[in-house]
Amino acid sequence: MLHTEPPPRTQRDSESGAQAPVLFDVADLFVRKRDGAALISGVSFQIRRQEVFGLVGESGSGKTLTALASMGLLPDGLTASGAVRLNGMHLLAKPERHMRSIRGSQIGMIFQEPVAALNPVFTVGAQIEAALRAHRRMGRHEAHEAAIHALARVRIPNPGERVNDYPHQFSGGMCQRIMIAMAISGGAKLLIADEPTTALDVTIQHEIIQLLRELVSQDGLSVLFISHDLGLVAQFCDRLAVAYAGEIVETGPARAILTDPRHPYTRGLVRCVVDMDEIGILRRGIPGSPPLAGTWPDGCRFRARCEMAQSGCESAQQLEFSTALREVRCWRSEPDPRGAATAPPHLPGGAQP
Ligand SMILES: Nc1ncnc2c1ncn2[C@@H]1O[C@H](COP(=O)(O)OP(=O)(O)O)[C@@H](O)[C@H]1O
Ligand SMILES: [Mg+2]
Repeated sequence: MLHTEPPPRTQRDSESGAQAPVLFDVADLFVRKRDGAALISGVSFQIRRQEVFGLVGESGSGKTLTALASMGLLPDGLTASGAVRLNGMHLLAKPERHMRSIRGSQIGMIFQEPVAALNPVFTVGAQIEAALRAHRRMGRHEAHEAAIHALARVRIPNPGERVNDYPHQFSGGMCQRIMIAMAISGGAKLLIADEPTTALDVTIQHEIIQLLRELVSQDGLSVLFISHDLGLVAQFCDRLAVAYAGEIVETGPARAILTDPRHPYTRGLVRCVVDMDEIGILRRGIPGSPPLAGTWPDGCRFRARCEMAQSGCESAQQLEFSTALREVRCWRSEPDPRGAATAPPHLPGGAQP
């Protein structure tokens, strides 16, 4: 994104109310391989305090690498450039030992496979206590009590007994609750959740989203919620960024994007959600598949799959403001010719774009 001073955005999907300050600011983030090939390019977004921000896009679009780069957790052989700021603090410049303390005390993380993320040979209590003692000065007894309290907060029944159980004694949904307890027990105000419900049944998914919603309002958390599922994201997030082939193609209030998608790729995603809602199980995909990372064409990366593509789309596309609150990376951006009636029925309330 080339804009240096974006217009102010609202914290909720509303045009009224005070602006919350920015907590997390990702600016022009690139992740490159050793040979210099980019896997994500120029990713920029801001998350305000107490805002739930969704990053959505097909598998391979660069969502996980965006999260890992932001937390200083890229695998060997990949490097990040650009800027990631938490409360104004530049994270990419921090040495690993500082990042280790920032992760946990200021940024909590949860991932797709909660069972795999827990250590099978320690009780869940021991693992929460270890996380607590790493980030807060606590004695053994105090940490044990705090671990029970943390399990109660994420609604694990009988936390005083279950604190002594091992991960295999819990269901997948319960393990994700335990991961959430660990992620926030160090006092983090930003939670990065990468596909946290993808491995879970739909009913359990909704319970986890409900729990996250409660924690957001009780603790004043901000959340970066990463998912390939636009329908799910729409139920939970205040604002969204849509990723395609290593870059952001659209940002804006969740309701505005879902009721009036402006980028042809977002439009395709929204239609997938509508198909599923109307027919129950049918989910029509967008024809074709995204270009492999590093083999992106010049100009619009979506144009080979785009029903609106025409001469001009081979030129570089900038992420530009289409309204005060919305950005779109498409020179042909315009309201959907099929009209706004394509909105899924379960959208959260809020202002129109
Ligand atoms: N360690 C790595 N080395 C090389 N390529 C990678 C590595 N990790 C991810 N990639 C590639 O980067 C792209 C983005 O990956 P990822 O961020 O995991 O996508 P998403 O989370 O959106 O599904 C994919 O094409 C993936 O194959
Ligand atoms: Mg991923």
